[in-house]
Amino acid sequence: MQSMRRFVVTIDGAAGTGKSSVAQELARRLGTDCLDTGAMYRAIAVLATDESIDPNDGPSLAKAVEEKGIRFDWNSNPPTILLGGEDVSKRIRDLDVSSIVSLVAKQPEVRTVLVEQQQRIGREHPLLVTEGRDQGSVVFPDAAVRFFLEAKMDERTKRRVKQLREGGAMVEDSQVQQDIKARDKIDSTRVDSPLACPHGAIVIDTSDKSMMDVVDLMEESVNSYLSK
Ligand code: DC
Repeated sequence: MQSMRRFVVTIDGAAGTGKSSVAQELARRLGTDCLDTGAMYRAIAVLATDESIDPNDGPSLAKAVEEKGIRFDWNSNPPTILLGGEDVSKRIRDLDVSSIVSLVAKQPEVRTVLVEQQQRIGREHPLLVTEGRDQGSVVFPDAAVRFFLEAKMDERTKRRVKQLREGGAMVEDSQVQQDIKARDKIDSTRVDSPLACPHGAIVIDTSDKSMMDVVDLMEESVNSYLSK
């Protein structure tokens, strides 16, 4: 892999399908960098909250993010996300941020700014596993291998609840499931790059599989691509 000039793997899917953990493990095995694009949308949701910007006001959000600046510290593993130089990696997971992030991600002006930044990151980190909702369809349509992850709603809820509780949040299953359904609806019906399976993507249902099993399958697909 290290001898290659460019190799991008994309992983798309809805919340709770296991994208983040499999992306990190796949990147570790392949020896590539790993980009969490959801963290970038979440950082803008933090900005909206902190600066009292309406999450539906795309132009103001785009302007604010250009002024403040979002970047990753690639020296940390996984890379921490910085908003105006401040580490907001923990803050982006808070429920108040999660509850408005889909609205923020729906704004075409916000998407234009972040798609451009993600493509720049792709040029600076040409060996990359990247995860999100539009990575294989819009941001890196020329990626070597594209995956789309799916999972049953109950399993997605269970995973999200575990993740939030591990982070110290007091949450109820029903509240988390409601939040996932609301976000799914906004993410898959928005006008600009709605969540959809990219053309030619390898679809994996992660419901009954461990994280390592999913990564094993992905690694096999990558190896079979490389051996062609
Ligand atoms: O994967 P996540 O839960 O951290 O994503 C947060 C939000 O950002 C979610 O509402 C979907 C949106 N998102 C997006 O629209 N496009 C991406 N590439 C990544 C995330």
